[in-house]
Amino acid sequence: MMEMLLRDDAATQRLGRDIGGVLTGGDVVALRGTLGAGKTTLVRGIAAALGIDDLASPSFGLVHEHLRPAGGRFMHVDAWRLHAPQDMLELGWDEWAAATDTMVCVEWADRLGEPAAGLWQSLHVLDIELAHAAGGRVVTLHWAGDSRLASLAASGETP
Ligand SMILES: Nc1ncnc2c1ncn2[C@@H]1O[C@H](COP(=O)(O)OP(=O)(O)OP(=O)(O)O)[C@@H](O)[C@H]1O
Ligand SMILES: [Mg+2]
Repeated sequence: MMEMLLRDDAATQRLGRDIGGVLTGGDVVALRGTLGAGKTTLVRGIAAALGIDDLASPSFGLVHEHLRPAGGRFMHVDAWRLHAPQDMLELGWDEWAAATDTMVCVEWADRLGEPAAGLWQSLHVLDIELAHAAGGRVVTLHWAGDSRLASLAASGETP
């Protein structure tokens, strides 16, 4: 587990770019946090690191598929309007979550179960929780047994 203070929008984007720099095909990122916590800002940073600059606001659809210039897909999902994991399965979740050339970022991951439960339970997920805090946002990262988590330590300030 790792906790960081992000003082402004630019800090959130910078962490996103650093995360994008360590992701590989097959990775799944779950973003949790209340309204306006910075989920989309972080995904924009991740996407930018992957060479994707035309990220649509996910509110205009549940799932956006992008092709990474280096190859493979980047799926940006907004689960805000979903009510149950079943809704995600109907959109094709099993196929993308299992594809080794595909990276998936899910905003409002809470809608699909607590960490390690629901749709997440058989997956190795980078779990990111963002919260409003004095001085910006606090982000908490969990990536069970993944050494890439330590490589992100320099990407933010200690709260
Ligand atoms: N670390 C930060 N400190 C202060 N403001 C921030 C920080 N990160 C992002 N913001 C700002 O917070 C606002 C909300 O960000 P964003 O849209 O990314 O949140 P969200 O969690 O996706 O919101 P929603 O729940 O509506 O989808 C934006 O104005 C963004 O610039
Ligand atoms: Mg958002």
